[in-house]
Amino acid sequence: MEKRPYENIIVENEDGITWVTLNRPEKRNAMSPALHYEMDDALANLAVDSKTEVLVITGAGEAFSAGQDLKLYFRDTANNPAERRRSNEAAHSWFWERLTTFPKPTIAMVNGYCFGGGLTPVCACDFAIAAEDAVFGLSEINWGILPGGYVSWNVANVMSFRDAMHYAVTGETFDGRKAEELRFVTFSVPKDQLRQATVAYARKLMEKNPAAVRFTKEAIRTVRGLPAQQAVDYLRAKGEALKYFDPEGGREEGMRQFLDEKSYRPGLGPYHRKKP
Ligand code: COA
Repeated sequence: MEKRPYENIIVENEDGITWVTLNRPEKRNAMSPALHYEMDDALANLAVDSKTEVLVITGAGEAFSAGQDLKLYFRDTANNPAERRRSNEAAHSWFWERLTTFPKPTIAMVNGYCFGGGLTPVCACDFAIAAEDAVFGLSEINWGILPGGYVSWNVANVMSFRDAMHYAVTGETFDGRKAEELRFVTFSVPKDQLRQATVAYARKLMEKNPAAVRFTKEAIRTVRGLPAQQAVDYLRAKGEALKYFDPEGGREEGMRQFLDEKSYRPGLGPYHRKKP
């Protein structure tokens, strides 16, 4: 991806992993309109960036994100409907549409505070890895609003009904360990191991056939909303499409290595990839 002069985010690539860091640490990475525009632009470009094999979203400093910026996103756009609409569209675009349809695996690395609208990119990413002491909260109730945008919908889908109701109506916080227990994140680790654990997880994903990873994550997202028979039909068509889409020919290569070469066990790990 060409270098772009972002002011509110940092985009870096290291050995196939692209790190996108929300970078307003002095404001706990609260999401301003400018940050939304930059994220929307960055994710549009990274989706077609060949160096990006896995995308990680995280926050600079002690927060992942303190949610929407109450001043710049809410108050300052109250009398500017054009800017309100533009920033709302950019926000929904990047932290929901672009992330949920991102063609490579996405990981939210939750390093600290994560409130309100900050929960949306966490839910949108395929995986979420949290510091055990990260602090999550649906704080909207504490300032007299409801969790809007995609927040209530996501929380009601990801958590149990009882937990979603409890955390949304009380505004009580929960830490990374609890987020793992609630299955709100994939897993949590002590903060000093967060980056290392995220890199290890990303590397594991990068060992797999990228086309199969993409089609599988799309399949898991899609079948949740389908009746069983439609899901089976969709998966049959999706599986056929994968054969033509996969430049590595993983299906044939995987069978060859197992049945003819006897060089690996598919039950225990991926076939040996020759990167194209
Ligand atoms: N919108 C705008 N500014 C925010 C913000 C937000 N969501 N969250 C933090 N900030 C700003 C503060 O106003 C403060 O700015 P200042 O230094 O100019 O006064 C700065 O970030 C640091 O915040 P502060 O509250 O002093 O930091 P803290 O480490 O003591 O507490 C939080 C961190 C996240 C617990 C606290 O800032 C907070 O509750 N933020 C709001 C969270 C929220 O309700 N988000 C939902 C929005 S949808």
